[in-house]
Amino acid sequence: NWTMENFIDTEIERIRTLVGPTGEVIGAVSGGVDSTVAAKLLNTAIGDRFHAIYVDNGVMRLNETKQVYDTLTAGLGINLKIVDASDVFLGKLKGVTDPEKKRKIIGNTFIEVFEEESAKLDAASGGKIEYLLQGTLYPDVIESISFKGPSQTIKTHHNVGGLLENMKLKLIEPLRELFKDEVRALGTLMGIPEELVWRHPFPGPGIAIRILGEVTPSQVEIARKADYIFIEEIRKAGLYNKISQAFACLLPVKSVGVMGDQRTYEQVIALRAIETVDFMTADWYIFEANFLKTVSRRIVNEVAGVARVVYDITSKPPATVEWE
Ligand code: XMP
Repeated sequence: NWTMENFIDTEIERIRTLVGPTGEVIGAVSGGVDSTVAAKLLNTAIGDRFHAIYVDNGVMRLNETKQVYDTLTAGLGINLKIVDASDVFLGKLKGVTDPEKKRKIIGNTFIEVFEEESAKLDAASGGKIEYLLQGTLYPDVIESISFKGPSQTIKTHHNVGGLLENMKLKLIEPLRELFKDEVRALGTLMGIPEELVWRHPFPGPGIAIRILGEVTPSQVEIARKADYIFIEEIRKAGLYNKISQAFACLLPVKSVGVMGDQRTYEQVIALRAIETVDFMTADWYIFEANFLKTVSRRIVNEVAGVARVVYDITSKPPATVEWE
């Protein structure tokens, strides 16, 4: 009979047989639940012969890279390499304002950096890396089968799709028969912290698609700080698990304000929080007025460069979840 415990045992055996006694595996981790659960399965099956790579693209959230490092290495014992490619990504994003171009640049740069790092690891292991781990879920499998081509692309969701084309690696997809709730249950069983198991989804292009207009280091700093405050207040108010996704967006417009007796002329932060089952449709979340007051006051007081905060009251459709 099918139980999650049986699934873990069977999957670990299957991975061990597939990889053999000396084979090695690489995989990208993002800090999200899917890639972490997949990485933990591989780590349980073959230990340090599984190499996780985390690429810091310069547009992750505040303190995120350190948090991922701590959770995966000290917490879960995963053999993890952090690659700080922030400068490479931010260099390529310079001057770019078109949302789809941002996505393509980040997706392609990710593939380049990942390939380079895996070539290094392969050389260091004496050419033993034969497999690439992907945290593909059942809904991703269905989506890619039923996908009808570019005319239906509203936004390019990159998620390492192109990763295999140049690499001579075979694929391991231990989650490909599971739904999201099953992956969460699996994660909990394998000792992955609840906070990570229930984390809101975060897009591959990161906050680059939450900074409208050009993505510069100073814009990244503003967007990061505002987002951090918003999420921190959501957690404090005990709302994190009631909301499906929440974030701050930095708008490339300036507006007049007053601080003390000084006239200010600074940018605008838009807050977005939604409730949804499948992310295909979504309702905006109804906060209490006092909650929004607190968040707004904190952002304007604590984040230099922001003079106004607005709340996005648009459902999906017609709006998408992300602003870009
Ligand atoms: P939209 O904006 O399309 O978002 O309504 C629906 C869900 O998808 C996420 N999203 C992305 N995820 N790469 C990703 O991995 C992307 O390029 C991307 N764009 C949107 C979004 O955060 C939401 O959860």
